[in-house]
Formats: sequence, structure tokens, C-alpha cells
Amino acid sequence: MSKLFTPYQIKNLELKNRVVMAPMCMFSADTNGHANDWHFTHYAARAVGGVGLIILEATAVEARGRISEHDLGIWKEEQVEGLKKIVDLCKAHGSKVGIQLGHAGRKSEAMSEPNIGPSAIAYSDDYRVPVEMTKEDIKNVAEAFKEAARRADLAGFDTIELHGAHGYLINQFLSPLTNKRTDEYGGNAENRSRFLKEILQAIKTVWPEEKPVILRVSAEEYGEEGNHDVDVANMIKDLKEEGLDLINVSSGGVINVVPRAYPGYQVKFAETIKQITGLPVMAGGLISSPSMAEEIVQNERADFIFLGRELLRNPYWCLQATKELRDEITWPKQYERAKLK
Ligand SMILES: Cc1cc2nc3c(=O)[nH]c(=O)nc-3n(C[C@H](O)[C@H](O)[C@H](O)COP(=O)(O)O)c2cc1C
Repeated sequence: MSKLFTPYQIKNLELKNRVVMAPMCMFSADTNGHANDWHFTHYAARAVGGVGLIILEATAVEARGRISEHDLGIWKEEQVEGLKKIVDLCKAHGSKVGIQLGHAGRKSEAMSEPNIGPSAIAYSDDYRVPVEMTKEDIKNVAEAFKEAARRADLAGFDTIELHGAHGYLINQFLSPLTNKRTDEYGGNAENRSRFLKEILQAIKTVWPEEKPVILRVSAEEYGEEGNHDVDVANMIKDLKEEGLDLINVSSGGVINVVPRAYPGYQVKFAETIKQITGLPVMAGGLISSPSMAEEIVQNERADFIFLGRELLRNPYWCLQATKELRDEITWPKQYERAKLK
């Protein structure tokens, strides 16, 4: 028996295994942010393949928070219907479904909208200089996250993930590299995490208590003056009572630096965050080997494994992984004759 294919419960969310599909932008929505046939097929295929938790790609809480003009959106009631269809399709095949709520801030390349950030500093020469957010803007964006969470519940999502990683807006506030504010939203760690705290407080007023909230973080920013795993862990620890149930541990994207990546390169950050915060964590990054995934959960270095590109290559990874791990899971009955012995 493997541990990777054992269930796990967080609040009311019962997951059949520890395999999570990482959020991955498809940049395939129309310019109104509506889901379409691509999304229905793409997500349902991973559910057929046995993934425990599917987390939908970064979905914009505001039109100006899109990474591109073709992001999925959740800033309007009309967007709920398509999202609900994805949820229903995935659940019909036994997966649980989350959605990553995102705001790109200074990294928005949706040129039809102005872009905003904690401070007027561009990501690189190829990006626009964002307009520094006023306190009114901060309040409005927290409200947009709240409304997005309300719509996510309407669509039937089992969990929401706040995109606090990869140098997008929440991360821009958390990082001393991008947040140069001199008011109560900048300076020390408590001030830099105030925006996230206010988002969590706003969400709590609409998101059901029994459904978990996930936070994705960049636990290492790959800049000496930036946040490192212990800094991020301490910020999470201070916020966990505001309603954080699970941490999805990633890294990078805050500054224009490419880290040296190898299978499992982010697992050590997940371990630190698990240890310091006491919260369950997801670990991943270039993982494709079932045995490696099993080692990480078996040794309690993380509670879940997220797979990104491997699941793009192989939506049926779970069905095949059980062979290597000498385990058995239920195959869709239509595929049973293909079961690997
Ligand atoms: C096509 C693609 C789109 C991505 N979009 C997102 C996203 O929307 N949100 C996010 O947090 N990470 C995003 N990522 C990062 C993945 O979630 C994941 O962390 C990364 O690919 C490393 O895992 P992997 O090596 O298993 O692919 C994306 C990655 C890829 C390849």
C-alpha cells in the first residue's frame, strides 16, 4: 500500500489521494474570461485520470488583474456558469475541485486595462510601470477577492486557493523587493502581510467555514534582500488564525531571475513551512516519478504532491503510478481492460 494513494480530510474536504493538479494558466478563455470547451475537456481528463484535487488555473478577480486578455475570470456573475460546468464534470469523475483566485498586479499584460501594484516599480523593462495603489484601491481589491470567493462557492468549488506566489499582486505586497510603501501596508513583515490579512478577513464573511482555504506562496524569491522560506513561514504562522488551512509551496517569479531547478527543488521549502506553521503543505516542482512522490509523503516532508507539466504530458499519471507503487486504485470502468498488471 502506498501513502500517495491514501485519503486525506481537511475540514469537509475529503480527498481520495494526495495527488494535486497544480494551477496552470491555459490562456484559452475569450476576452470576457468565460470557460469553454478547452477547459471542460482539459480538466475533466485529469479527473478521469484519478487526480485527487484539481486546482483550476489563476482566475482573475478583476479584469485589470488578468495576466493576459485570455485568462479565466471570476469577476462577473455570468462567469459562474462555465466554471460550474468544469466543477460538475470533474466531480462526476471523483475529483475534488479548487480554483486559484488571482490578481496579477504589476505583472498584468492585459493591455486594455491599467495595471496596479503596491509601489510604482516595473517587473522588468518589458512590463509597464504600475500605478501605486491607494488605500481605496487596496480596499476595492480585497472586496473583489471576497466577491470572487462568493462566486466560487456558487459554482460549487470545494476549496479556493489564493495566489500569493510568483510575484503576482499578493506576493508583490509580501515581498520587500516589490513593496516599498511607507504606510501601514509596507515596511516590516506584519505590514507587508496586511493586504493578505484583509483579503482573508473579507473572504471569511462569505466563504463557508467548513470549506478549506489554500494559500500558494513563493517560499524563496531568489534575491538576497527578498523573502526566504523562514520569512514566509513566519508570515503564514501569524496569519493562520485568519483562516488558512493548507499551503501550496512554490517559489520564484518576484524578480526576473531563473532559479536552478531539479526534481524536488522546492520540497525543502515545503518542509520548512510545514514545520514552522504546523499547517499541511503541498510540495512539487519537476516531479514526475511516482516513487519520488511517495518518498515525500511517506517521510512526511509534505502532505500532498502537486504535479504540473507531468499532468499536461500524461493526464492518466495516477492510473499508471499505482503500478510502480504496487498499489491499486479504481479505474474508470470504461478503461478497465487497459489496467496495468
Ligand atoms: C502552462 C503552465 C501554466 C502555469 N500557470 C500557473 C498558474 O496559473 N498559477 C500558478 O500558481 N502556477 C502556475 N504555473 C506553475 C505550476 O503550477 C507549477 O508550480 C510549475 O509548473 C512547477 O511544477 P511542475 O514542474 O510539476 O510543472 C504554471 C505552469 C505551467 C507549466
